Amino acid sequence: MKFPIPKLLKKSALINPKQYQQMYAESIKHPDLFWSKLAEEFLTWNKSWDKVSNCKFQNAQIEWFQGAELNASYNCIDRHLPQRAKQPALIWEGNSPGEKRTVTYLELHQEVCRLANLYRSLGIKPGDRIAIYLPMIPEAVFAMLACARIGAIHSVVFAGFSAQAIRERVLDSEAKLVITANEGFRGDKVIPLKDIVDQALEAVECVEHVLVVKRSASAFNLQAGRDLVYQEIIQNYSDQAECQVMSAEAPLFILYTSGSTGKPKGVVHTTGGYLLYAAVTHKYVFDYQDGDIYCCAADIGWITGHSYVVYGPLANGATTVLFESIPTYPNAERYWQLIEKLKVNIFYTAPTAIRAVAKDAPNGPDKYDLSSLKVIGSVGEPINKDAWLWYYEKVGRGQCPIMDTWWQTETGGILISALPGAIETKPGSASRPFFGVNPVILDPNNEIIQTPMEKGRLFIAGSWPGQMRTVYKDPARFKQTYFSDAEGFYFTGDAAYFDEDGFYWITGRVDDVINVSGHRIGTAEVESAIVTSGIIAEAAVVAVEHEIKGQAIIAFCVLKNLQPENAEKLVKDAVRAEIGAFAQPERVCFVPGLPKTRSGKIMRRILRKIASGESKEIGDVTTLADPSVVNEIIACYND
Ligand code: WT7
Repeated sequence: MKFPIPKLLKKSALINPKQYQQMYAESIKHPDLFWSKLAEEFLTWNKSWDKVSNCKFQNAQIEWFQGAELNASYNCIDRHLPQRAKQPALIWEGNSPGEKRTVTYLELHQEVCRLANLYRSLGIKPGDRIAIYLPMIPEAVFAMLACARIGAIHSVVFAGFSAQAIRERVLDSEAKLVITANEGFRGDKVIPLKDIVDQALEAVECVEHVLVVKRSASAFNLQAGRDLVYQEIIQNYSDQAECQVMSAEAPLFILYTSGSTGKPKGVVHTTGGYLLYAAVTHKYVFDYQDGDIYCCAADIGWITGHSYVVYGPLANGATTVLFESIPTYPNAERYWQLIEKLKVNIFYTAPTAIRAVAKDAPNGPDKYDLSSLKVIGSVGEPINKDAWLWYYEKVGRGQCPIMDTWWQTETGGILISALPGAIETKPGSASRPFFGVNPVILDPNNEIIQTPMEKGRLFIAGSWPGQMRTVYKDPARFKQTYFSDAEGFYFTGDAAYFDEDGFYWITGRVDDVINVSGHRIGTAEVESAIVTSGIIAEAAVVAVEHEIKGQAIIAFCVLKNLQPENAEKLVKDAVRAEIGAFAQPERVCFVPGLPKTRSGKIMRRILRKIASGESKEIGDVTTLADPSVVNEIIACYND
């Protein structure tokens, strides 16, 4: 099933099919030349580069625009002021419909300068880390850009993470300052952010100050000497602040993400390459043109928010919508109401959100004027055909192509996607590689698969400017995780195949990473969280398919002693406390033992079969240390 490029876009889009072919070919043949041209076109540099790229995957070495200098805040704000001072940079849509704030580029400049001056007055120097634990409010964007302005490195922590999760991230990044709000709102839930931060920072020594934004009138605790209230002091600072000129390879931010083993990794993105890649992909993938109202519904706590709410759109001088609420509050028509009200031209959200609103209000979009839309996007997990078709027909009215964008925290920006005027779409396929991206699918022997429809592991040959540069403080882990599976290739962790048309289909992770509602969760992290409940000797978690969330977590747990009455609650609470509510298992199953090989490795494959009701297809279990445990687990699960 294939959908053509809509007529209107054929005429108006930035690039047509022929141009895509030409540009793509050029980008692969002469990547340095290709990216240097775009770097000149898209960004303003204080100093040009000596060398465009210097990358050797064998050594996990990635460098772009060596010797060049720029400032990301200048590129996202200052340089737009001559033409765009009065244009809205941010349109904030608060949790309750009707709560709204518009921030023009001029106001953004003033707010960011004030905050940059405040940071400087607290002794924050270039290279220092600032942790941001904020809801989706304009101050979150100010906080990020003010870091960029003074060369400090931000580490945004999603406001759904628990105290323990913040603590780990603050300690790993040795943040000097934490910025939070008194509380946050998501639908009808109130999240006591300041209390959570207080708990997170108990006995943490690196943090010198906590800056609290008053999101509401509710009272909150203030620790004398440490805590400052944003609204009480921000006016004391000048609305002019110089930009710290940074090297292209200076870290812009750290963002923690989960892997198959161990603790979350601090993914490091740098200033020049990242900003360029975010800007270029934002423009071409969404066909962003001057004057478009652009809305990405993602949270700034994740990479989608960094690249496609903040950096990409603002580097391009766009008006970007900040959406604080959830798609189902106060009802499942919230998105459509927002699109109608703000006359949104480009809308970007996740399959899980589409499925949730399609289920609750299948005809919801019919009631609204969505004619402003020209391109709609999807990100975070494979989008199933039903959700795709609903989105296409109900929301896009058959006139807006769906950009199913495949990428990762590590890639900084979109690597595989259709392009509105240049590439047709197929439901469920992320379509074709972006400029400069060379996907490779390898078989179990690390041979490159040349035949369509044959599934293998997805790797990328050659670097692109938005690629992560290292794992914070752990270059060895960077090399091991991404460059050790096949020499000379970047390993994505995903499985995929391509079809006869050269369209890519991503089928899911091949490692122990679970994707719940687009949130990336490591099995190992959930398992160690479960053990902190104190009642569990050993746990193994697997994913099962879920109608709305895409995947849900099933936990198999071996109790230490007799089962307490509230055992399931204790296990779930432990996960909430260690990671956050979004990582809670859907179901906890208490079993007498786990299926292990003789060398002690847990066979999650077997648990996956049991959890998805396919216990008849388990196959050979003779390699297990104790094969009889399998039937016992099946009995517990079906109980
Ligand atoms: C993993 C990365 C990219 C921003 C949000 C997630 C899965 C992401 C798609 C897509 C199929 C997708 C992959 C990937 N994924 N987008 N369009 N189709 N799968 O970033 O948290 O780093 O997760 O999300 O498995 O590896 P992330």
